[in-house]
Amino acid sequence: MYRLSAGRGAVKRIHTPRAGAFSPGFLCRCAFLEFKNPGLEDPACGAAYSNIRMEIRAATPGDVPSVIPMVRKICALHESWDPAKYTFRSDPGEMYRAWLGRRATDQRSVFLVAERSPGPPPVLAGFLVATVEAEIPIYRVDEFGFIHDLWVEEAYRHEGLGRQMVMLAIERFREIGVEQIRLDTAGANEVARALFASCGFRVSTMEMLVELKT
Ligand SMILES: CC(C)(COP(=O)(O)OP(=O)(O)OC[C@H]1O[C@@H](n2cnc3c(N)ncnc32)[C@H](O)[C@@H]1OP(=O)(O)O)[C@@H](O)C(=O)NCCC(=O)NCCS
Repeated sequence: MYRLSAGRGAVKRIHTPRAGAFSPGFLCRCAFLEFKNPGLEDPACGAAYSNIRMEIRAATPGDVPSVIPMVRKICALHESWDPAKYTFRSDPGEMYRAWLGRRATDQRSVFLVAERSPGPPPVLAGFLVATVEAEIPIYRVDEFGFIHDLWVEEAYRHEGLGRQMVMLAIERFREIGVEQIRLDTAGANEVARALFASCGFRVSTMEMLVELKT
């Protein structure tokens, strides 16, 4: 069972994760998180929050169309931080579409979505996608988990969703059997580094970049 510290005014409860029944054979556990802060407005209906429940679960291929707008936002945010590094050839959402579909059915990928309920309609509040990557053969570690993207919609931030998805990803990678999990963060992204540090990550490599003007 995961426990989150009470955060930024909201009262929240995490329920015991249960074995996921969402994609056959996918053992990723699910978690439920309740938002009970009457002072916050529920973006889905415009009214004050009243006992919103978030379910973090394994994504299915049917979730991909709802994840793509969040992919576009995370790409735009990174491009705004560092256009030299994060400028995309074309619509990154479309470029992700087929890849995300494969992640949703790959037993060695971790693809989680946070879905608010009660619905309908179902509303996704965030996602995390990660894969197992091979290390080059000079190193003792053969492969490692790699978190590619993590996004929580602005209206649902600071309630513990990001951390809960990261902790579930760590648990899933432990089940898969990798020894390490890695990720990159943009130099400007101190919020994400604070989140990952609070989940046990430390800084490893620090990438440097110089632009050669022609
Ligand atoms: C980073 C992100 C996923 C965090 O989602 P979230 O649901 O708000 O995160 P949580 O509520 O779980 O916060 C976890 C921890 O992150 C850190 N954190 C979150 N928001 C923070 C803020 N505004 N300032 C400082 N630290 C913050 C804190 O350590 C926090 O722990 P605490 O609540 O006990 O203080 C979200 O801000 C986001 O989607 N950002 C844009 C996309 C992005 O940067 N993704 C990561 C790319 S590597």
